[in-house]
Amino acid sequence: MWSHYRFVFWFTVFFAIFAKIDSKFEFTNIKCESLDKAFCGFESCYIKSVNRSYKYFTVKVNLYQLPTNWSLFKRFNGYKPFLYNLTVDGCKFLRNVNAANPVSKYFFEFISPYANVNHKCPFNHDIIVEKVPINAMDYRLTKVLPFPEGDYLFDTLWIAYGVPRGYVKLYGTLS
Ligand SMILES: *[C@@H]1O[C@H](CO)[C@@H](O)[C@H](O)[C@H]1NC(C)=O
Ligand SMILES: *[C@@H]1O[C@H](CO)[C@@H](O)[C@H](O)[C@H]1NC(C)=O
Ligand SMILES: *[C@@H]1O[C@H](CO)[C@@H](O)[C@H](O)[C@H]1NC(C)=O
Repeated sequence: MWSHYRFVFWFTVFFAIFAKIDSKFEFTNIKCESLDKAFCGFESCYIKSVNRSYKYFTVKVNLYQLPTNWSLFKRFNGYKPFLYNLTVDGCKFLRNVNAANPVSKYFFEFISPYANVNHKCPFNHDIIVEKVPINAMDYRLTKVLPFPEGDYLFDTLWIAYGVPRGYVKLYGTLS
């Protein structure tokens, strides 16, 4: 099937609130895992604290197959009161980001200044998301979206041809 260069890329996002606490957002942990070593591998996946005001995360994914056609499935599934469940065709999304669903756009804009994904399909290179300053995300999450306090899990599952290929999980706390 890879010889046809057809690639369906799904992206599942879960938002979970585990507890209500007190008013600052902080990312606490990141986890990445390839579920299909023939398809992709993670070269980097970490959060680094440089100092109190500069903290960032980096994710580098080596793609071993050539994706030219992909779609993005986003699902924000929280314990109550959140339930976001979005489906985005990735290639269509990148063709016209401005026309995309505002929630998808919102999350894409977090990442895009630091990632090499700001182009249309095909993707014939590794995906690098480098040094996304978490403080800026913290600011947006606390100021832009009226999210309640609590522990969050930004859970992304990457699926191609209906088969999970890997996941990235970002953990944070809004206090
Ligand atoms: C890309 O995906 C779209 C929608 O799933 C499909 O209609 C189209 O034929 C695909 N293109 C290629 C080149 O596979
Ligand atoms: C934190 O580190 C960054 C990058 O090295 C630097 O530009 C900034 O001035 C530092 N801030 C403090 C408060 O030390
Ligand atoms: C989310 O959307 C997908 C695709 O439309 C669907 O298969 C899934 O059941 C939905 N999940 C929830 C919790 O609504």
